[in-house]
Amino acid sequence: MSKVKLNLIAAACENMGIGINGTLPWKLKKEMTYFTTMTTKVKDNNKINAVIMGRITWDCIPNKYRPLHNRVNIVLTHHVDDVKAKVPDGVVVVPSLDEAIRYIEGREDIESTWVIGGSAIYKAAMEHENCGKIYLTEIQKSFNCDTFFPNIDKQQFHLVDEEEIPGERQLEGDISYFFRVYKKL
Ligand SMILES: NC(=O)c1ccc[n+]([C@@H]2O[C@H](COP(=O)([O-])OP(=O)(O)OC[C@H]3O[C@@H](n4cnc5c(N)ncnc54)[C@H](OP(=O)(O)O)[C@@H]3O)[C@@H](O)[C@H]2O)c1
Repeated sequence: MSKVKLNLIAAACENMGIGINGTLPWKLKKEMTYFTTMTTKVKDNNKINAVIMGRITWDCIPNKYRPLHNRVNIVLTHHVDDVKAKVPDGVVVVPSLDEAIRYIEGREDIESTWVIGGSAIYKAAMEHENCGKIYLTEIQKSFNCDTFFPNIDKQQFHLVDEEEIPGERQLEGDISYFFRVYKKL
């Protein structure tokens, strides 16, 4: 197995929904800050993290925020040449998760790898032998969604405590949520 560990990060509501009409079903500023911090922070300041996403998730990120700053952005698509022609220089476009892993293995400067969605990419990452942890924000409310986080097999993924992750309930407006971490056994 390669040394590249895949960490998934997602926010899901009570029905495990993650998206609607190509966007997020909620507006949670602090949750977004958590996503940015988790996917950006490095222990070694000479390194950088990678984020792996599906082509639709890339399309969903507002222009002013993409590529996601201070991270190597990797986009998965079956139409590599078409997508390559549309994205800014520096964005890596690959046809599979294994190609993304191979690309990361080929670089010495990538510290952590974050899989940031959507559904099929999360599923492929969870089933992959390199899967490490799932950082899941569990929103205590139901939203109308058309995109869902895959089922988490609790035989394989166990809830763990991470020192640096706040364990207490978070509140933004009238929406509460928890930052949870599941580790693949
Ligand atoms: N709440 C959250 O944490 C969160 C996180 C991420 C996204 N979202 C939401 O989820 C929605 C987008 O997610 P989505 O599931 O619809 O789409 P997605 O996974 O972002 O993108 C799907 C596309 O990725 C490419 N793809 C998927 N699997 C592939 C594979 N194995 N190999 C190569 N390419 C592959 C294909 O692109 P081509 O069609 O170009 O071939 C496919 O159409 C949006 O509403 C977004 O806001 C929410």
